[in-house]
Amino acid sequence: MSTEDIWFDPSLCFIGGAWVDPVAGQTLDLGNPSDGTVICQIARGGQEDVDHAVAAAEEALHGPWARMTAPERGRILAKIGQLVLDNADTLARLEAMDVGKPLKQAKADALALARYMEFYGGAADKLHGHTIPYLDGYTVYTLREPHGVTGHIIPWNYPMQIIGRSVGAALAMGNAAVLKPAEEACLTALAFADLARQAGLPEGVLNVVPGLGAEAGAALSAHAGVNHVSFTGSVGVGKLIQRQASENIVPVTLELGGKSPQLVFDDADIDAALPFLVNAGVQNAGQTCSASSRILVQRGVFDEVLDRMAARYGDLQVGPAMADLDVGPLISARQKDIVEGFIAQGASLEKAAQGQVVTDAPDGGHYVAPTLFAGVSPGHVLAQEEIFGPVQVVIPFDDEAEALSIANGTQFGLVASVWSREGARQMRLAKALRAGQVFLNNYGAGGGVELPFGGTGLSGHGREKGFEALYGFSTLKTVAALHG
Ligand code: NAI
Ligand code: MG
Repeated sequence: MSTEDIWFDPSLCFIGGAWVDPVAGQTLDLGNPSDGTVICQIARGGQEDVDHAVAAAEEALHGPWARMTAPERGRILAKIGQLVLDNADTLARLEAMDVGKPLKQAKADALALARYMEFYGGAADKLHGHTIPYLDGYTVYTLREPHGVTGHIIPWNYPMQIIGRSVGAALAMGNAAVLKPAEEACLTALAFADLARQAGLPEGVLNVVPGLGAEAGAALSAHAGVNHVSFTGSVGVGKLIQRQASENIVPVTLELGGKSPQLVFDDADIDAALPFLVNAGVQNAGQTCSASSRILVQRGVFDEVLDRMAARYGDLQVGPAMADLDVGPLISARQKDIVEGFIAQGASLEKAAQGQVVTDAPDGGHYVAPTLFAGVSPGHVLAQEEIFGPVQVVIPFDDEAEALSIANGTQFGLVASVWSREGARQMRLAKALRAGQVFLNNYGAGGGVELPFGGTGLSGHGREKGFEALYGFSTLKTVAALHG
């Protein structure tokens, strides 16, 4: 573990363009998932810090940011993206240390953050209003406007990617943001704020208040000065945030994870499917909102797919982030307990295969061996609930109708994929699957900064990523002129 990459003071909040102490002067330990040590102290922000951050954002909406043209805003975002690229290796090391993810996965996240800033920088001047044919003597047009102050409450699993998709889109539309990173991982959120400062983002346009969910998080989602809240995290907290938003009558975007299936038909190209089937379950140790935790396989190829997945599981190496193996530790001892609790609920099931935790993995790290279960009925808890660990279940099906009914048979609806060579089936299922994204003969489409993303059911609502996010992070004004 190395703290020499931390070039800023991680115990501070970033408010109004300056690094400031949390008002109450309290800090929290930031844990290293790979060995259980404390990396550093972070600010334990609270109500007053959030008040200051929201006030700074409000002020920014009346300063140079408000007068800046869309292309100028875009140029600043692009410049932040360039600084992210220039610092990608450092950011990757920070994220790997903080989240526990293998270094190459952290590097991919840093590159995705840069790409988000590039994409939203380029998009800032591309969303236009309309003119609407209306009654005689009128000219009617619409204006796209920022909500105002946007609150961003993000989790610990992909800090850089989630900052990119939510803060990037919000700033492109001219909002001013207050970001509450997760208490488990916030180094890259702070690093990003400093890069944004270096890129010339006007003060107050981005503010970062680290702290606990029940303190800084709740203060932000309840704040009467916040005009839009985007949240990625658990279903339980998502409900709290939506309830809170109803008090203030503000829109929310909720991205709450899933139980995403991949459907493998007898005619699938299994060689092509295999890496996706397994990677989509174990990437980031399964702590991925769009993780594919259910693999549904038609009976004609069931044994082959299960055997070949099991062989891959047998080869998976689990170890510290910096060893850059296939799988890292889970984020915390608590998350490890949750995931082991789920694995224990599968005690009576067939455990088809497990990966290996390397022998020299530090004792204090939160390691869980990736586990593949077979013979799981679709209603089993392991096939219904989000586990958020490296655990997948393989479920057999007879025909397309049964596959669809199992696939749609959870309360979630985030992502799904279909592995089949039959075009008509691909089209039928793409329509019928209950999901915000459907992949045909792939899964995840390489990250997909450009691809709208979000869920239905317990997976949440609203769309982030791609151009679509710009609609959610803005509001529309209709102007009707009667001129005769
Ligand atoms: P969480 O929902 O508690 O945390 C996510 C964010 O919400 C963090 O920044 C946290 O500080 C904040 N938060 C917590 N309580 C809050 C409150 N009352 N008001 C406002 N903000 C609050 O998720 P947690 O506890 O870290 O993970 C638990 C489970 O949630 C995981 O096992 C997984 O199933 C799910 N999860 C899903 C994620 C996704 O990407 N969809 C990401 C993280 C967790
Ligand atoms: Mg929590």
